[in-house]
Amino acid sequence: MSGGFSLSDALPTCNNPNPSAPPPHGYPSWGNQPPAPGAFPTFPGCPAAAPAPYPGGPGAYPGAPGAYPGGPGAPGPYPGAPGAFPGAPGGPGPHCAPGQPHGGLGFGHPPPQGGPAPPLKVPFELPLQAGLLPRLLITITGTINHNPNRFSLDFKRGKDIAFHFNPRFKEEDKRVIVCNSMFQDKWGREERIAPRFPFEPGKPFKLQVLCEVDHFKVAVNDAHLLQYNFREKKLNEITKLCIAGDITLTSVMPTMI
Ligand code: GAL
Repeated sequence: MSGGFSLSDALPTCNNPNPSAPPPHGYPSWGNQPPAPGAFPTFPGCPAAAPAPYPGGPGAYPGAPGAYPGGPGAPGPYPGAPGAFPGAPGGPGPHCAPGQPHGGLGFGHPPPQGGPAPPLKVPFELPLQAGLLPRLLITITGTINHNPNRFSLDFKRGKDIAFHFNPRFKEEDKRVIVCNSMFQDKWGREERIAPRFPFEPGKPFKLQVLCEVDHFKVAVNDAHLLQYNFREKKLNEITKLCIAGDITLTSVMPTMI
Protein backbone atom coordinates (compact mmCIF):
# COMPACT_ATOMS: atom_id res chain seq x y z
CA MET A 1 0.00 0.00 0.00
CA SER A 2 2.32 2.65 -1.12
CA GLY A 3 1.45 6.02 -2.50
CA GLY A 4 -0.71 4.98 -5.39
CA PHE A 5 -3.38 2.88 -3.71
CA SER A 6 -6.73 3.84 -5.11
CA LEU A 7 -10.25 2.60 -4.81
CA SER A 8 -10.12 1.12 -8.27
CA ASP A 9 -6.97 -0.73 -7.23
CA ALA A 10 -8.76 -1.98 -4.17
CA LEU A 11 -11.87 -3.30 -5.84
CA PRO A 12 -10.57 -6.49 -7.39
CA THR A 13 -8.70 -7.47 -4.23
CA CYS A 14 -9.72 -8.10 -0.64
CA ASN A 15 -11.77 -11.26 -1.14
CA ASN A 16 -14.37 -9.71 -3.23
CA PRO A 17 -15.45 -12.43 -5.61
CA ASN A 18 -17.70 -10.14 -7.57
CA PRO A 19 -16.26 -6.69 -7.52
CA SER A 20 -18.10 -4.05 -9.39
CA ALA A 21 -16.00 -2.78 -12.22
CA PRO A 22 -14.88 0.77 -11.85
CA PRO A 23 -16.23 3.16 -14.40
CA PRO A 24 -13.85 4.03 -17.24
CA HIS A 25 -13.00 7.32 -15.63
CA GLY A 26 -12.29 5.54 -12.35
CA TYR A 27 -13.58 6.23 -8.86
CA PRO A 28 -12.45 9.02 -6.67
CA SER A 29 -9.41 8.10 -4.65
CA TRP A 30 -9.69 5.65 -1.79
CA GLY A 31 -7.07 5.73 0.88
CA ASN A 32 -3.39 6.45 0.87
CA GLN A 33 -3.47 9.12 -1.69
CA PRO A 34 -4.49 12.74 -1.65
CA PRO A 35 -8.04 13.36 -2.69
CA ALA A 36 -8.54 14.56 -6.20
CA PRO A 37 -9.44 18.21 -6.32
CA GLY A 38 -13.07 18.50 -5.43
CA ALA A 39 -13.49 14.75 -5.08
CA PHE A 40 -13.52 14.45 -1.32
CA PRO A 41 -14.17 16.76 1.50
CA THR A 42 -11.15 18.48 2.88
CA PHE A 43 -9.96 17.14 6.17
CA PRO A 44 -10.49 18.03 8.95
CA GLY A 45 -12.84 20.79 7.98
CA CYS A 46 -16.01 20.43 6.03
CA PRO A 47 -15.82 19.71 2.36
CA ALA A 48 -15.84 22.31 -0.29
CA ALA A 49 -17.14 19.75 -2.71
CA ALA A 50 -18.11 16.10 -2.67
CA PRO A 51 -18.62 13.65 -5.52
CA ALA A 52 -22.37 13.90 -5.33
CA PRO A 53 -25.12 13.77 -2.79
CA TYR A 54 -26.74 10.59 -1.57
CA PRO A 55 -29.65 9.76 -3.86
CA GLY A 56 -32.66 11.90 -3.54
CA GLY A 57 -30.86 14.73 -5.05
CA PRO A 58 -31.47 15.83 -8.56
CA GLY A 59 -31.83 12.82 -10.70
CA ALA A 60 -28.55 11.09 -10.14
CA TYR A 61 -29.80 7.88 -8.52
CA PRO A 62 -29.03 5.09 -9.11
CA GLY A 63 -26.48 5.37 -11.85
CA ALA A 64 -24.17 8.30 -12.07
CA PRO A 65 -22.49 9.77 -9.09
CA GLY A 66 -25.08 11.90 -7.47
CA ALA A 67 -27.48 12.36 -4.70
CA TYR A 68 -28.67 9.69 -2.33
CA PRO A 69 -32.29 8.85 -3.19
CA GLY A 70 -35.09 10.13 -1.07
CA GLY A 71 -33.89 13.59 -0.36
CA PRO A 72 -35.61 16.67 -1.64
CA GLY A 73 -33.13 17.06 -4.40
CA ALA A 74 -31.24 20.11 -3.40
CA PRO A 75 -28.33 20.48 -5.73
CA GLY A 76 -24.94 21.06 -4.24
CA PRO A 77 -21.88 19.39 -3.00
CA TYR A 78 -23.37 17.97 0.18
CA PRO A 79 -25.54 14.91 0.27
CA GLY A 80 -29.26 15.16 0.79
CA ALA A 81 -30.54 18.35 2.22
CA PRO A 82 -31.05 18.40 5.97
CA GLY A 83 -34.79 18.20 5.61
CA ALA A 84 -34.47 15.10 3.47
CA PHE A 85 -34.73 12.58 6.23
CA PRO A 86 -36.94 13.94 8.98
CA GLY A 87 -39.58 11.29 8.69
CA ALA A 88 -37.34 8.28 8.48
CA PRO A 89 -39.24 5.20 9.55
CA GLY A 90 -38.86 4.28 13.15
CA GLY A 91 -37.32 7.51 14.32
CA PRO A 92 -34.40 7.55 16.65
CA GLY A 93 -33.83 4.55 18.81
CA PRO A 94 -33.13 4.77 22.50
CA HIS A 95 -29.39 5.13 21.99
CA CYS A 96 -29.48 7.15 18.88
CA ALA A 97 -30.61 10.73 18.70
CA PRO A 98 -31.60 12.16 15.37
CA GLY A 99 -29.15 14.29 13.51
CA GLN A 100 -29.11 17.99 13.91
CA PRO A 101 -29.30 19.32 10.43
CA HIS A 102 -27.84 22.64 9.57
CA GLY A 103 -28.54 25.21 6.97
CA GLY A 104 -26.51 23.55 4.24
CA LEU A 105 -26.90 20.20 2.58
CA GLY A 106 -26.03 17.13 4.58
CA PHE A 107 -25.16 17.22 8.24
CA GLY A 108 -22.57 19.54 9.57
CA HIS A 109 -21.58 22.52 7.55
CA PRO A 110 -18.63 24.69 6.76
CA PRO A 111 -17.64 27.06 9.49
CA PRO A 112 -19.29 30.47 9.21
CA GLN A 113 -16.67 32.96 8.13
CA GLY A 114 -13.84 30.73 9.22
CA GLY A 115 -15.14 30.03 12.71
CA PRO A 116 -15.29 26.51 14.09
CA ALA A 117 -18.18 24.33 12.93
CA PRO A 118 -20.58 23.62 15.78
CA PRO A 119 -20.52 19.92 16.65
CA LEU A 120 -23.39 17.59 15.91
CA LYS A 121 -25.11 15.95 18.85
CA VAL A 122 -23.81 12.52 19.81
CA PRO A 123 -25.41 9.99 19.74
CA PHE A 124 -26.23 10.93 16.20
CA GLU A 125 -28.57 9.24 13.76
CA LEU A 126 -28.39 9.50 10.01
CA PRO A 127 -31.57 8.16 8.44
CA LEU A 128 -30.95 6.53 5.07
CA GLN A 129 -34.37 6.38 3.49
CA ALA A 130 -33.32 4.30 0.53
CA GLY A 131 -31.09 2.04 2.57
CA LEU A 132 -27.56 1.21 1.59
CA LEU A 133 -26.46 0.65 -1.95
CA PRO A 134 -23.18 -0.04 -3.68
CA ARG A 135 -21.02 3.06 -4.09
CA LEU A 136 -22.66 4.86 -1.24
CA LEU A 137 -19.84 6.58 0.60
CA ILE A 138 -20.40 7.99 4.06
CA THR A 139 -17.81 10.47 5.26
CA ILE A 140 -17.68 11.31 8.94
CA THR A 141 -15.42 13.96 10.40
CA GLY A 142 -14.87 14.69 14.05
CA THR A 143 -12.40 14.68 16.89
CA ILE A 144 -11.70 11.95 19.39
CA ASN A 145 -12.51 13.15 22.90
CA HIS A 146 -9.86 13.26 25.57
CA ASN A 147 -9.57 10.11 27.65
CA PRO A 148 -11.86 8.12 25.36
CA ASN A 149 -13.10 4.65 26.07
CA ARG A 150 -14.85 3.78 22.79
CA PHE A 151 -17.00 4.96 19.94
CA SER A 152 -19.06 3.14 17.39
CA LEU A 153 -20.86 3.29 14.09
CA ASP A 154 -23.92 1.08 13.77
CA PHE A 155 -25.57 0.49 10.42
CA LYS A 156 -28.99 -0.73 11.43
CA ARG A 157 -31.79 -2.74 9.89
CA GLY A 158 -34.57 -2.23 12.40
CA LYS A 159 -33.11 -3.36 15.70
CA ASP A 160 -30.49 -5.50 14.02
CA ILE A 161 -27.02 -4.12 13.47
CA ALA A 162 -25.71 -5.02 10.05
CA PHE A 163 -22.31 -3.48 10.70
CA HIS A 164 -20.90 -2.40 14.05
CA PHE A 165 -17.56 -0.60 13.77
CA ASN A 166 -16.17 -0.10 17.24
CA PRO A 167 -12.77 1.35 18.07
CA ARG A 168 -11.92 0.63 21.72
CA PHE A 169 -9.17 2.61 23.38
CA LYS A 170 -8.93 0.72 26.64
CA GLU A 171 -9.57 -2.93 26.23
CA GLU A 172 -7.29 -4.42 28.86
CA ASP A 173 -5.01 -1.47 28.25
CA LYS A 174 -4.92 -2.17 24.54
CA ARG A 175 -6.46 -0.40 21.62
CA VAL A 176 -8.45 -2.48 19.20
CA ILE A 177 -11.08 -2.13 16.51
CA VAL A 178 -13.95 -4.57 16.85
CA CYS A 179 -16.37 -5.21 14.01
CA ASN A 180 -19.47 -7.32 14.36
CA SER A 181 -23.17 -7.68 13.57
CA MET A 182 -26.14 -8.20 15.88
CA PHE A 183 -29.16 -10.19 14.83
CA GLN A 184 -32.16 -10.72 17.11
CA ASP A 185 -30.31 -9.20 20.04
CA LYS A 186 -27.35 -11.55 19.67
CA TRP A 187 -23.87 -10.48 18.72
CA GLY A 188 -22.10 -12.60 16.16
CA ARG A 189 -18.44 -13.44 15.79
CA GLU A 190 -16.18 -10.47 16.31
CA GLU A 191 -13.70 -9.48 13.60
CA ARG A 192 -10.57 -7.86 14.94
CA ILE A 193 -8.53 -7.61 11.80
CA ALA A 194 -7.58 -3.95 11.57
CA PRO A 195 -3.82 -3.86 11.01
CA ARG A 196 -3.46 -0.61 12.92
CA PHE A 197 -5.37 1.73 15.22
CA PRO A 198 -5.54 5.11 13.53
CA PHE A 199 -7.41 7.11 16.17
CA GLU A 200 -5.74 9.30 18.80
CA PRO A 201 -7.31 11.00 21.82
CA GLY A 202 -7.82 14.70 21.14
CA LYS A 203 -7.08 14.38 17.43
CA PRO A 204 -9.36 15.06 14.46
CA PHE A 205 -10.21 12.23 12.11
CA LYS A 206 -11.93 11.54 8.83
CA LEU A 207 -13.64 8.18 8.76
CA GLN A 208 -15.13 6.89 5.50
CA VAL A 209 -17.31 3.88 4.97
CA LEU A 210 -17.85 2.78 1.41
CA CYS A 211 -20.64 0.34 0.70
CA GLU A 212 -19.55 -2.08 -2.01
CA VAL A 213 -21.41 -4.96 -3.68
CA ASP A 214 -20.75 -7.46 -0.91
CA HIS A 215 -18.72 -5.67 1.73
CA PHE A 216 -17.97 -2.41 3.42
CA LYS A 217 -14.62 -0.72 3.11
CA VAL A 218 -13.42 1.57 5.88
CA ALA A 219 -10.75 4.24 5.46
CA VAL A 220 -9.40 6.61 8.07
CA ASN A 221 -7.63 9.84 7.17
CA ASP A 222 -7.53 8.80 3.52
CA ALA A 223 -5.89 5.44 4.18
CA HIS A 224 -7.74 2.17 3.71
CA LEU A 225 -8.12 0.37 7.04
CA LEU A 226 -10.29 -2.71 6.71
CA GLN A 227 -13.21 -4.32 5.03
CA TYR A 228 -16.19 -6.16 6.45
CA ASN A 229 -18.11 -8.66 4.39
CA PHE A 230 -21.88 -8.31 4.50
CA ARG A 231 -23.67 -10.61 6.88
CA GLU A 232 -26.95 -8.76 6.35
CA LYS A 233 -27.63 -8.75 2.63
CA LYS A 234 -30.87 -6.76 2.50
CA LEU A 235 -29.07 -3.53 1.86
CA ASN A 236 -32.19 -1.52 1.12
CA GLU A 237 -33.48 -2.30 4.61
CA ILE A 238 -30.40 -0.93 6.36
CA THR A 239 -31.88 2.49 6.85
CA LYS A 240 -30.05 4.05 9.77
CA LEU A 241 -26.54 4.91 10.75
CA CYS A 242 -26.04 5.56 14.45
CA ILE A 243 -22.86 7.16 15.69
CA ALA A 244 -22.18 7.10 19.41
CA GLY A 245 -19.40 7.25 21.95
CA ASP A 246 -16.47 9.40 22.91
CA ILE A 247 -16.13 11.67 19.92
CA THR A 248 -17.06 15.18 18.96
CA LEU A 249 -18.82 15.00 15.64
CA THR A 250 -18.29 17.65 12.99
CA SER A 251 -20.00 16.32 9.86
CA VAL A 252 -21.68 13.24 8.42
CA MET A 253 -22.12 13.12 4.69
CA PRO A 254 -23.54 10.39 2.48
CA THR A 255 -22.57 10.69 -1.16
CA MET A 256 -22.65 8.44 -4.20
CA ILE A 257 -19.37 7.86 -5.96
C1 GAL B 1 -19.91 -6.31 23.26
C2 GAL B 1 -20.20 -4.85 23.56
C3 GAL B 1 -21.06 -4.28 22.45
C4 GAL B 1 -20.41 -4.53 21.11
C5 GAL B 1 -20.07 -5.99 20.95
C6 GAL B 1 -19.37 -6.28 19.65
O1 GAL B 1 -19.06 -6.86 24.22
O2 GAL B 1 -20.93 -4.76 24.77
O3 GAL B 1 -21.24 -2.90 22.66
O4 GAL B 1 -19.25 -3.73 20.98
O5 GAL B 1 -19.26 -6.43 22.02
O6 GAL B 1 -19.04 -7.64 19.55
